[in-house]
Amino acid sequence: MQQLLDKIKAYSAEIEAAAVKSKDELEAFRIKYLGTKGLVKTIMGEMKDVAVEQKKEAGQALNQFKNFVEEKFDKLKQFEASIVKEKQDTDLSLPAPDMPLGTRHPISIVQNKIISIFNRLGFAVAQGPEIEDDWHNFTALNLPENHPARDMQDTFYLQEEPAWLLRTHTSSVQIREMEKGVLPLRIICPGRVYRNETISARAHCFFNQVEGLYIAENVSFADLKQTLYFFVQEMFGQEVKIRFRPSYFPFTEPSAEMDISCLICGGSGCNVCKKTGWVEILGCGMVHPQVLENCNIDSEKYTGFAFGMGIERIAMLKYQVKDLRLFSENDTRFLDQFVAAV
Ligand code: PHE
Repeated sequence: MQQLLDKIKAYSAEIEAAAVKSKDELEAFRIKYLGTKGLVKTIMGEMKDVAVEQKKEAGQALNQFKNFVEEKFDKLKQFEASIVKEKQDTDLSLPAPDMPLGTRHPISIVQNKIISIFNRLGFAVAQGPEIEDDWHNFTALNLPENHPARDMQDTFYLQEEPAWLLRTHTSSVQIREMEKGVLPLRIICPGRVYRNETISARAHCFFNQVEGLYIAENVSFADLKQTLYFFVQEMFGQEVKIRFRPSYFPFTEPSAEMDISCLICGGSGCNVCKKTGWVEILGCGMVHPQVLENCNIDSEKYTGFAFGMGIERIAMLKYQVKDLRLFSENDTRFLDQFVAAV
């Protein structure tokens, strides 16, 4: 009798640990333990060897064991069925779910648009280094040492003597191109620039510019006006108006700032245009003869115009973005909105 109980105990542990992964394994379990020649039946057969006075106790233990095995079999059966269902629910022939596509950065979208407009007018893209020397960023642009206008642009210096700095504008690229001496010259210079400014909704320590330069014989201010007028019409729509205000840049003479009629209120006055109906978008002017001479260009023979604008500013107007910082924070909730723009 004790032998029988020990056997039941040992088998119970084995059965408790049993697991199945398929219908075949489930059937193997059934045959091994519950089949006509299975373990339960075999042990039941051993009842005959148990002493009469112990038959009741042994019978109870055997019944309990039989129930336990049957319950285990039911559990395994359910488990096996759930695996089958899971396999059916997973249709492996279905195409994989879509991966979200990345989007172009609004600054790239606007920059590409600006480039394509000027390309159509014959301007080629020129690029230069972001780390500049004093000559290309300042001196050649008619900003000699101690010139007060250097304070207009708070410069990040990497080294004082000789000066290495982060370019404060892409006018430095224009100098590099003029120094090559191939004329006439018609280029735009897109790129990142740096200024030591406190970061706010309207200013940043780095931003992107596109500057333009056209040098040939008989280039006039009228050419500059017409070029920029064409640009803003292509960029903002045919109905946009422009106006020029006299200004000062050391590298251009005369110099001007160009405003466009406010796109938000159409000129009647709102917060964006500070109730004036106009918003400033760029600086421009006729290249100063001294700048041409600094690059060994004959200023008697050649004239030229130059202009420069911030891409962020154009993008803010185009998309009505009120905070400049959004462009460099990489928040995809902001960036994802520009999928189909421009
Ligand atoms: N370089 C000027 C700036 O960064 C822009 C400019 C370019 C103005 C060319 C006039 C002519 O602010």
